[in-house]
Amino acid sequence: MTQARQHSIQVVAHRGASEDAPEHTLAAYTKAIEDGADALECDVRLTADGHLVCVHDRRVNRTSNGRGAVSALELADLATLDFGSWKDSEESPDWRDPEFTSVLTLERLLELVADADRPIQLAIETKHPTRWAGQVEERLLQLLKRFGLDDPTRGGRAPGAPTRGGRVLGGLPPGESFRGRSAPGGPVPGESAVRIMSFSARSLHRIASAAPQLPTVYLMQFVSPRLRDGRLPAGARIAGPGMRIVRNHPGYIARLHRAGHRVHVWTVNEPEDVDLCVRLGVEAIITNRPKQVLSQLGRL
Ligand code: G3P
Ligand code: CA
Repeated sequence: MTQARQHSIQVVAHRGASEDAPEHTLAAYTKAIEDGADALECDVRLTADGHLVCVHDRRVNRTSNGRGAVSALELADLATLDFGSWKDSEESPDWRDPEFTSVLTLERLLELVADADRPIQLAIETKHPTRWAGQVEERLLQLLKRFGLDDPTRGGRAPGAPTRGGRVLGGLPPGESFRGRSAPGGPVPGESAVRIMSFSARSLHRIASAAPQLPTVYLMQFVSPRLRDGRLPAGARIAGPGMRIVRNHPGYIARLHRAGHRVHVWTVNEPEDVDLCVRLGVEAIITNRPKQVLSQLGRL
């Protein structure tokens, strides 16, 4: 049963179309855009020389042919690695094109989205940022500012911001924000082109203090006793429960809604989980399978 409210659910490609292509690569994000995803999720980490790169794990061992912590490597080191061929399989044997499978900087991802021919939102997760005591958030906000994305109420691109193909991020003309726009399943009216997510309340608090207009999503693996009534930590605006919470405590989702929060659920890959999210009226589904979810929602 995939019916009521499905039209308003945003489909977010988790680490790109990461079931089909190597996660966090240009290949995965390009595929997600081609598949019709409304938004892209990515994790960001800081390299030893201060670049934000899209990598999930603390170390590069699982998703590349290299070894070591991202924080101990410089961007030039990461650029020599292959982030694609670990995903090789009999069905998809060749993820080796360096143009699409090299390390992806957040800056390059912003450019990709800016070049898209329709509005695409970005959900950026600060990954275990405590080691850097605010530097991840500082760099992130600097970069968003360069793209004119640190204040969604302003809309459009900052004067002099980098351009590729002359479009603003998400494909909106300069000076126009997503506010008041409505596209079935697409960007939700009043939503920003970028939102910041984290399991770290401290990280979201830093973002909210420096850029209060940016939406923030508090990610939860379990419901902490002090938040059971549907409240979120200071600085967090949107709730980001894991699918396990949704399955085991559906009443909690209603509580979050009653408390006035939008609910973005991760990682929703199974058809029955998509159905449950639809029934509960969540606002966004974060999935490794954007194409299958869009098809289930009747949007393809
Ligand atoms: O979208 C939130 C989700 O990505 C959090 O978990 O481990 O996949 O980053 P993880
Ligand atoms: Ca993530």
